[in-house]
Formats: sequence, C-alpha cells, structure tokens
Amino acid sequence: MKTVLITGATAGIGKVTARTLAKQNYRIVIVGRNKEKTAQCVEEIKTESANPHIHCLVGDLSVLDDARRIAKEFNEQYEDLHLLINNAGGVYEKRQLTVEGFEKTMATNHLSHFIITNMLLDKIKKSAPARIINVSSGSHFNGRWNPDDIHMSKRYRTMWAYGNSKLYNVLFTKYLAEHLKNDKVTVNCLHPGVVRTNIGNKNTGLLIKIFWKTFSGIRGISEEAGAKTTLYLVTSPEVENITGKYFDKCKEVPSSKISNDFNAAETLWKMSKEMTKI
Ligand SMILES: NC(=O)c1ccc[n+]([C@@H]2O[C@H](COP(=O)([O-])OP(=O)(O)OC[C@H]3O[C@@H](n4cnc5c(N)ncnc54)[C@H](OP(=O)(O)O)[C@@H]3O)[C@@H](O)[C@H]2O)c1
Repeated sequence: MKTVLITGATAGIGKVTARTLAKQNYRIVIVGRNKEKTAQCVEEIKTESANPHIHCLVGDLSVLDDARRIAKEFNEQYEDLHLLINNAGGVYEKRQLTVEGFEKTMATNHLSHFIITNMLLDKIKKSAPARIINVSSGSHFNGRWNPDDIHMSKRYRTMWAYGNSKLYNVLFTKYLAEHLKNDKVTVNCLHPGVVRTNIGNKNTGLLIKIFWKTFSGIRGISEEAGAKTTLYLVTSPEVENITGKYFDKCKEVPSSKISNDFNAAETLWKMSKEMTKI
C-alpha cells in the first residue's frame, strides 16, 4: 500500500484529493491545523471511502516549529512516503509576522513545506519511485523576486505576497528536482485553476470576500475539477519520469520567466535553509 502525506486536506482542493486517493486504496496522512476539524475529516473520508488507513497529524503551518514537529512525528510513525502533496495555502490581506518573525504568507505557503519536504527526504528517497507535488498557482506570474525584502516590510500587497509565495513554490520545485534527478523521485508543481473554495474568505476583510465570491463564482471551477491536475501528477504513468515542471489542466506548460532562473532558485533555497535552520 502506498503512503501519501497531504497538507491542507481539511477543505477545498486538498480534501477532494485526499478523498479520491482514499478510494483508490492509498494510505493517507492528512495534515490539518484544527484538531477537531481534522479528526472529523479523517472519519468522513474513512466512511466515504471504506478505507480504514486514513490518519492525521495536526499543526499550524504558519508556525515553523509545528512544521518541524509534524515532519518528526511522520518520520517516527510511518515507514514509507511515496507521495508528498504540499497543498496547504492561505491568502493574508494584511501583512502579518508569525510568532517566529516571518512574513506569514511565505511561512505558511513556502517555508513550512520546505521544512516538511527536507525533513522527509530520506524517507521519500528510500520509498522511491516517489513523487513530490507542490500546489502552486497561476498567481506566481504576479510574483516579484525581491530577496532584499523577502518579508515585504517596505511594501505589502495581498496578491503580491500570495504571488511571491506561489513563485517560491515553483522555484523550490525546480531546485529540488535538479537536486533529486538521480534518485527516482520526481518533483512537479501545478496551477489547479481558479477554484470555488473558501481560500479568499479566510484572513480577509469584507471587500476581498465579496471580490472572491463574485470572481470565483463567475470564473471558478468546482473543487473536484480543481483537484484533477494534482491527481494527474500523483497517479498518471505519463509523468513518471517528468520532473521540475509546471502543470495546468493536466498539461506541462511554461511557468514565469523568473521561476526558471536557476540563480533565483538557488538563492531562495539558501535563504530558506537559513530561515528554517534545516
Ligand atoms: N482556489 C483557487 O482558486 C486556487 C488557485 C490557485 C492555487 N490554489 C492553491 O491551492 C491550494 C489549496 O487551496 P484551496 O483553494 O483548496 O483553499 P482552502 O479551501 O482554503 O484549503 C486550504 C487548506 O489549507 C489549510 N491551511 C491553510 N492555512 C493553514 C495553516 N496555517 N496551517 C495548516 N493548514 C492550513 C486549510 O485548513 P482549514 O480547513 O483549517 O482552513 C485547508 O485545509 C493552496 O495552496 C492554494 O494556494 C488555489
């Protein structure tokens, strides 16, 4: 039985992904931030899929200590990891620093996944062939590469911060894929589409909530459709030897110019290592 670890599987695209894979008989470990919600989600998925191998780990991914603890608990409790899906993500309207002093969008969407992936890498390599899937976004095209102000202290805009964090997901994918090219471990990232989830309704004020409801209501696809590219990257034999690429609608497509700059990827890797002390 193949083991999947998926972050942010208590709602939206991640929950549909976990539910679908549960029905295909994978062992699923979901990461959620709220203990009761995550436990309830495990029970729901177990009942719906008739698969008893659904488990959870609980932690707030904006807190890097929680990401470290989650990775440590996974390493202690599970033998293998064939599929790591870094899916959790958030949009923060106002600039916030985490308890550890990091810009919160970057901490949640990138740094916590940097920690989890790196701390689980030995297990992933041992379980090869294995796949790492990073859920990025088309918003990465709006990302600005500004390593001198990575915490956005000079100028903060909600969608720049989000775009930056999603650009980091692509740069991380490219660098890690290169690093793992001889290990039978692929690393790819994706845009799920504009998906009618609640992502724009958390950590935002009324105006953004109204904008997101209208925009995703008109342009958005269902959560089931939004999970398709992730599921394709998890299960399709077509991509078993493809690594370091960006996908949209189950197809490899070009990512932004800056996301293909290997110097930027290397700098981000070094900065992430320093910030996370990994
Ligand atoms: N929806 C879109 O149009 C869209 C477009 C492009 C990319 N994406 C990406 O798709 C991924 C999934 O987003 P979604 O649209 O499915 O959003 P969602 O419905 O809000 O789900 C996000 C998931 O991440 C979890 N999460 C958020 N902050 C967390 C934290 N600090 N610690 C632990 N878990 C946390 C949420 O937990 P709770 O259930 O507790 O809130 C939830 O399970 C994200 O990476 C997002 O950037 C979405």
